[in-house]
Amino acid sequence: MAWLVTGGSGYIGSHVIRALAGEGLDPVVLDDLSSGIESFVPDGVPFVRGTILDQALVEKTIDDYGVTGVIHVAGYKYAGVSVQRPLHTYEQNVTGTAVLLAAMAAKGVDRIVFSSSAAVYGVPPTDVVTEDTPKSPESPYGESKLIGEWLLRDQGVATGLRHTSLRYFNVVGSGEPSLYDASPHNLFPLVFQALLDGRVPKIFGDDYATPDGTCVRDYVHVSDLALSHAVAARKLDAGETLEPAYNLGSGDGSSVKQIMDAMAEGTGIDFEPEIATRRAGDPDRIVAEGVLAGSDLDWKMRHTLLEMVESAWAARQAAE
Ligand code: UFG
Repeated sequence: MAWLVTGGSGYIGSHVIRALAGEGLDPVVLDDLSSGIESFVPDGVPFVRGTILDQALVEKTIDDYGVTGVIHVAGYKYAGVSVQRPLHTYEQNVTGTAVLLAAMAAKGVDRIVFSSSAAVYGVPPTDVVTEDTPKSPESPYGESKLIGEWLLRDQGVATGLRHTSLRYFNVVGSGEPSLYDASPHNLFPLVFQALLDGRVPKIFGDDYATPDGTCVRDYVHVSDLALSHAVAARKLDAGETLEPAYNLGSGDGSSVKQIMDAMAEGTGIDFEPEIATRRAGDPDRIVAEGVLAGSDLDWKMRHTLLEMVESAWAARQAAE
């Protein structure tokens, strides 16, 4: 019995495999290394290099390692860039998920935990999003994640697949100094890169309809998020039924300015961010309740914002 983690050598996937191992489950990684880093996979965890688009390889991996469940983290995750690369985004996230599900069906693997996103909500009409908030994705990325959820649902009806989708909010922090977020597009890595280069970090717009004018997001620690994947896997193994989707959010928002303050404190570098122009497509605010995940997936915030900054900074510096 093993759990296949697609995208297991990425920033989030590598935390998920550690959480699985911590819960006594056996992870196997499939990753094409398009953005993952092979050294993020610890010794003793099988690593298969390849893409989820290769159905024969997925089926062989299932056979070779006795895979009985899948945590599907692999995907193209850059919402902003997906607007310029819709076909690539759909191929990786929609076709990739369909091929993976086909391989699972062919091999009788009947349980999956899917990495979805806050991006399925687009610009939410409420201050705090719940799982029932209308879905209105505003990018090919958000659309592709919503379609992924639908694929699981429909395959569940067709084949009895047991599934859940975890909608991530802003995932930050690091569970150990060797694992860092290498994304070239998100706030934490961009601020760190600027600080390491001796440049001033930028705030993309301070004229939003929020208390301090900068965008408000729901930042969650990657290790807390990873743990809920392991709990979901364990529950699916135990035959329990999970909700089709859970928000992994804190119920609390932080503005970009507040993050910059935490960055100055957590890094010990005194800086005054530059106010730059808005980035296209950024909603004023997106914050989620994590109540449902709290009751079913042992989800809670086990780390403060400062701990998120400090752990992420330590990992980023270690990567230099
Ligand atoms: N920001 C800055 N300066 C920077 C980088 C970002 O001010 O140098 C701001 C952005 O404008 C935004 C906030 O910081 O207001 C957070 O930006 P991120 O890029 O870190 O995160 P997003 O909220 O845009 O995106 C996250 C995930 C996406 C997901 C989206 C869904 O990274 O994958 O949430 O809402 F699609």
